[in-house]
Amino acid sequence: MSNQTVLIAPSILSADFANLANDIEMVNQSQADWFHVDVMDGVFVPNISFGFPVIKAIQKYAKKPLDVHLMIVDPDRYLADFKAVGAEVLTVHIEACNHLHRTIHAIKELGMKAGVAVNPHTPVSLLEDVILDLDLVCLMGVNPGFGGQKFIKQTVQKCATLKAMITAKQSNCLIEIDGGVNEQTAKDLIAAGADVLVAGNFVFGATNPTQAIADLKSL
Ligand code: DX5
Ligand code: ZN
Repeated sequence: MSNQTVLIAPSILSADFANLANDIEMVNQSQADWFHVDVMDGVFVPNISFGFPVIKAIQKYAKKPLDVHLMIVDPDRYLADFKAVGAEVLTVHIEACNHLHRTIHAIKELGMKAGVAVNPHTPVSLLEDVILDLDLVCLMGVNPGFGGQKFIKQTVQKCATLKAMITAKQSNCLIEIDGGVNEQTAKDLIAAGADVLVAGNFVFGATNPTQAIADLKSL
């Protein structure tokens, strides 16, 4: 995949929640492709973020697809609710699903694109038997739960391994990287086959977030 086609998904977790409409409009007007929306339950990860009313409010203003990343246990209970508040891509964690194949197909039957996220300790080889069913694999570049953490370098090699699996199986699945993305790490990740870059702190912590998005997009 050529660099021009890399998708950028700013992570709303790092936005200003008291001025969410402003930050959403900034993303609308920018070169970003998706809104990345992190849902944390305080059980799967040691943090709680936000739920349905907030996502519904985001959807009202967002003019780009919502890429919803569920860091919650037992996500099957809520798939239809996330569809109802506007999720277009819905990603569950492999570590949170006992019957991953069933969950992936339930997401697709609801009319959403299905993603699976893998924590830093989880080998991508576990995805071999579902890679043809998936629209997206989200490789965590940090242990999930918080924005602004240091990138785990091993993720670059993992991205290359996953890319080789996707190519070998002739899957159309996209590789998304979430956590620790900045201009430096993004370069290596794109070279290793990344298709979608999530960025929280790099975008919303920048003096000029619109420019930070453009900088990632132009790599
Ligand atoms: C981490 C979240 C990420 C987070 C990324 O648990 O899933 O989406 O917002 O933040 P940065 O880009 O700051 O590492
Ligand atoms: Zn995320």
